[in-house]
Amino acid sequence: MAKPVTTFSCSACGATSTKWSGRCDACGAWNTVSEDVPLSTGPSGKTLGAARGSRIALTDLSSKEAPPPRTASGMPELDRVLGGGLVPASAVLVGGDPGIGKSTLLLQAAAAFANGGLKTFYISGEEASAQIRMRADRLGLAQSPVRLGADTALRNILTTLDEERPDLVVIDSIQTMWSDTVDSAPGSVSQVRAAAHELTTFAKRRGAAVILVGHVTKDGQIAGPRVVEHMVDTVLYFEGERGHQFRILRAVKNRFGPADEIGVFEMTGSGLSQVSNPSALFLSERGKPSPGSVVFAGIEGTRPVLVEIQALVAPSPHSQPRRSTVGWDGGRLAMILAVLESRCGIPFAGLDVYLNVAGGMKISEPAADLAVAAALLSAREDSALPADTVVFGEISLSGALRPVGQTENRLKEAEKLGFSSAIAPEGGKPGGAKGLKLTRMGDLTSFVGEIFGA
Ligand code: TYD
Ligand code: MG
Repeated sequence: MAKPVTTFSCSACGATSTKWSGRCDACGAWNTVSEDVPLSTGPSGKTLGAARGSRIALTDLSSKEAPPPRTASGMPELDRVLGGGLVPASAVLVGGDPGIGKSTLLLQAAAAFANGGLKTFYISGEEASAQIRMRADRLGLAQSPVRLGADTALRNILTTLDEERPDLVVIDSIQTMWSDTVDSAPGSVSQVRAAAHELTTFAKRRGAAVILVGHVTKDGQIAGPRVVEHMVDTVLYFEGERGHQFRILRAVKNRFGPADEIGVFEMTGSGLSQVSNPSALFLSERGKPSPGSVVFAGIEGTRPVLVEIQALVAPSPHSQPRRSTVGWDGGRLAMILAVLESRCGIPFAGLDVYLNVAGGMKISEPAADLAVAAALLSAREDSALPADTVVFGEISLSGALRPVGQTENRLKEAEKLGFSSAIAPEGGKPGGAKGLKLTRMGDLTSFVGEIFGA
């Protein structure tokens, strides 16, 4: 008989390997690799004869098959991120830092779906039923027909669910679930994987939608949501800065809808409230025009979002100047500084550079390059850009400005919010916002010349 192969996996990124090491080869985290415990095999360890599965020819499937029926929660910010609503027999993962508001969001979502007629279970492995009820009271949801459970033993949970035939099950959180098919502690890679597997199988078998909550862990002591990402149909991340009240629900994978869609919420004393016009909210904190502040006209999923980018440039007391970013990629900042230095002759050596996207928003669009460059220059020159101007465009290594998608949507949103001019790259489709003065530029040098007279 072949010797069973021992495998090891990383609790931070879920990568597997055949040997143990102190540092994960895939993500570089230390002390996160541990041995996998295999799922229990059949009687006396023999491989069971494979059961014959059903086969169906692709041509037998009707192309007129109706799209999956979806149930909307009635919370538009959540439904948009789900691609229109929940699909039956699907599994959704909602990941996020501890304390960001996942339990709050999902209790509100569970109540919304239950009020809409879905038979909904909210099962918590972290809080007792009384605690969940207190939270529901605080959220004003005490009267909604959600059934609560406080349990961590997956076998009990699945037995109940098999009898009850729910339409929707929320599991808060996957790291607290314990499956007796695996002989290791809750929260370990093997447990999280086994529990997620059993719950997704339940979803497919019973046609229920299952939402799994996963804590993002920094220290790797318990397995993070990455371990589960490939098993589920939809992956959503709930993000935001602790000090800010804005929260963003972002779809990073969706088998039933567009990825990269966002929903915006605000954490209040009585739970999360939906923000239907995020640009107005993100810009509401903006004061007078000041050096280093630039408004970027961005696109998140299908929706335009205007955000303020703030930069601070100051002489550095250190031999190695600081480069610090919040809400934007540090590598991309280094690239823009290098382009400004070598293509436009504007040095940042000896200067500390801080870059911040206001409101706790995270931007990954290269279209923000030009707004970042403008904020850096404005901070360095101590000269404010006109307050009624939005900026967008991608910067290439040669210093050329590249057109970006959805120019029209960006301009229309800016016009709607009262901006009167925009700076964008040449090329691309002409804008459709008539009330906006549009200045188009081909490269970064002409931008610097035009705006800062350098
Ligand atoms: P929670 O949903 O428990 O976070 P998670 O499940 O992601 O760990 O949210 C915890 C935070 O939210 C906590 O700091 C308190 C705050 N909060 C409010 O501000 N308002 C509310 O109505 C609720 C329920 C929580
Ligand atoms: Mg929680």
